[in-house]
Amino acid sequence: MVEISTSILSAEQGKETEIFLGLEKAKTDYFHIDVMDGKFVEKDTYNKMFEYSSYIKRISNLPLDIHLMVKDVKQAINDFLSTEPNIITFHYEALKNKEDVMDCINYIKQNNCRVGLAIKPNTSIEEIYEFLPYIHMCLIMTVEPGKGGQTLLHDMIDKIIKIKQYITENEIDIDIEADGGINLRTVEEIKKAGANILVAGTAILKANDYSSIINELKA
Ligand code: DX5
Ligand code: ZN
Repeated sequence: MVEISTSILSAEQGKETEIFLGLEKAKTDYFHIDVMDGKFVEKDTYNKMFEYSSYIKRISNLPLDIHLMVKDVKQAINDFLSTEPNIITFHYEALKNKEDVMDCINYIKQNNCRVGLAIKPNTSIEEIYEFLPYIHMCLIMTVEPGKGGQTLLHDMIDKIIKIKQYITENEIDIDIEADGGINLRTVEEIKKAGANILVAGTAILKANDYSSIINELKA
């Protein structure tokens, strides 16, 4: 059974409470928090996503799935650990070397939080194989990071198939999260490829009945 992580990046200003409570009622499996610093990607959602995370913590027990699209990974880890997330995922491309990647992985785990590693569409999956035994989730970007409402890049399907095959052959028990452009048209091939956590923002937030769209994506 796949899980749904709803991205609240495009939550309409002024309707946040209604949206967050609606998603809680609709039993999204996670709230997906897209943290952007205006450096790793163009948009800056840093403070807004920090506020949203802190607020959701107060009104809901559902887990936070933090997606850091930032250059200063360590600083963002420290900031968002305070919102007691279920998992913090950072981008492989934001760090210069393998030691720094392992340092951030260990730092997140030492702070009793699960850890994910994300890769952009142009990064080959082989580049992060060596980290898979140490993380809980691999986030495969199925759009260029930076904004919601984009069209899924179909080339990413093969990447999901490949990592699924690799973790199966090597008995590595991690989640594969697909993120970007997921909706009722694209969800089947993403699930078939092997992703077991699906991030959807636009497809869910634009629906007027959150639970039916979430159930349809999961079915
Ligand atoms: C893009 C974000 C995604 C995006 C998903 O940089 O990481 O989580 O908000 O939104 P949709 O589902 O609209 O592509
Ligand atoms: Zn995301």
